[in-house]
Amino acid sequence: MLTIALSKGRILEQTLPLLEKAGLTIAKKELSSRKLILDTSLTDVQVIIIRATDVPVFVQHGAADVGIVGKDVLLEHGSNNLFEVLDLGIAKCKLMVAAESKDKLKQNTLKIATKYVNLAKRYFQNKDQSCEIIKLYGAMELAPKVGLAHCIVDLVDTGNTLKANGLIPLEHIEEISSRLVVNAASFKTKNVQIKSWTQNIEHSL
Ligand code: ATP
Ligand code: PRP
Repeated sequence: MLTIALSKGRILEQTLPLLEKAGLTIAKKELSSRKLILDTSLTDVQVIIIRATDVPVFVQHGAADVGIVGKDVLLEHGSNNLFEVLDLGIAKCKLMVAAESKDKLKQNTLKIATKYVNLAKRYFQNKDQSCEIIKLYGAMELAPKVGLAHCIVDLVDTGNTLKANGLIPLEHIEEISSRLVVNAASFKTKNVQIKSWTQNIEHSL
């Protein structure tokens, strides 16, 4: 049995059509049920749908053989015990530093609001910029406005959320898209099944 962990929300919407094209469908009845492990059209493949941030955790520990998750989440979590095998090119966006103006970044100790604590720390350490990270779980764009932080590190797609909150994208950290990741042990023990399944996905991109 192959267990695939899918990220809920935005990524899931774009993943399901991709999986269907690759020959794996999940019945509507399964998707709308309260079940956490879902059957698929393939008898040897089951799917779990979980929060994006939990996907690398399940894959790393082998609770799922394969996962689909944003590069942002992988950069934050780390890729210990898992391999990134395919860029799916979905849920594309950019990870950026944004503030009300460029001057706001000129601080001895820069206060940064973000949910990407590890990633932001690494980024500013590499620039020799001393910083204080304020961990938030959403609505990062609010932080500069209310004096909680000098800037934010967050995802930007259309730029509408930044604009609506008086922020400017200032520094580009990474291009983000969703990736297919595989547990290191499963990669060996279920190699044939994983390879054939991955190839199906690759051909349907
Ligand atoms: P969680 O429920 O774990 O907090 P979330 O609320 O961030 O996750 P989504 O907003 O569905 O969940 O985002 C999941 C992933 O989709 C992100 O990790 C990122 O890879 C991608 N993503 C987020 N925002 C955008 C966006 N505006 N445009 C394109 N992709 C995005
Ligand atoms: C994401 C991200 C930004 C926004 C960027 O938030 O955190 O706030 O999208 O997209 P844009 O550049 O097209 O405006 P999301 O909509 O997922 O809400 P969230 O606060 O729940 O993460």
